[in-house]
Amino acid sequence: MAGAQWSIMRGGFTLQSCFNNELHVAIIMDGNGRWATRRGLPRVAGHRAGLGAARRIVEHAPDVGIGRLTLYAFSSDNWRRPAAEVESIFWLLRAFLRMETERLRERGARLEAIGRRDRLPRAVLRAIENAEWRTAAGHRLHLRVAIDYSSRDAIASAAATALARKPAPDPKALTSSLAAAVIAGSSDVDLLIRTGGEKRLSDFLLWESAYAELVFTDRMWPEFNESDLDAALEEFYRRERRFGGVTNQAARAVGGR
Ligand code: FPP
Repeated sequence: MAGAQWSIMRGGFTLQSCFNNELHVAIIMDGNGRWATRRGLPRVAGHRAGLGAARRIVEHAPDVGIGRLTLYAFSSDNWRRPAAEVESIFWLLRAFLRMETERLRERGARLEAIGRRDRLPRAVLRAIENAEWRTAAGHRLHLRVAIDYSSRDAIASAAATALARKPAPDPKALTSSLAAAVIAGSSDVDLLIRTGGEKRLSDFLLWESAYAELVFTDRMWPEFNESDLDAALEEFYRRERRFGGVTNQAARAVGGR
């Protein structure tokens, strides 16, 4: 069905009339540093250009059926970078929040930061809380920005909370309470895109991506644009998702034996 929707869209219908914004797309925005270095620029110039790409994709996402978009802005391992680079990334994140919040609100986007908050600079935390508060009513796009995020930490901390309950949950209850805690307020990822040519998950949404379709592109994040997102979605719709089952055709073949 989704594939049919896509071909209708290619036939000239407006995107909005074809989709009901049901997809959860997650993006590992990689390649900022290399993009800049190849141009003889400091790495921070790549991050600044990356901000432009984020703006383009956030703007385009709801028009192509994306209801939830999770962007990996700063992993918990990124603290290992030189302090000056970390500072620049946080400065840019604040700038993004300051400049984009009103536009997000107008476009019906609800912003939410995921990840640890206790280690963030106070000014960044304030900017996040302000953006979350001002966009709280948005229901066209749920924009999640992962900052100081580690999927392993998120799972481990959900497990610790569940196991501390009295009585301790049995294995089945533990799994469902983990799923509920990790997914809370979100959903499984349908499509995970990584730019910059590397093919790994880097501790991003490990639980939520159990059945995600993965698309890796050599495009560096600062150059990633609307057409690249459309191409990734086309690839997604070409794939058959079986969630561990079999195709309808295969099921019929087994039944007919
Ligand atoms: C990866 O490039 C990108 C980051 C570490 C995060 C910075 C992202 C932004 C500033 C984009 C802004 C996004 C939002 C949502 C405001 P890299 O430095 O790892 O690149 P490299 O692999 O080429 O070194």
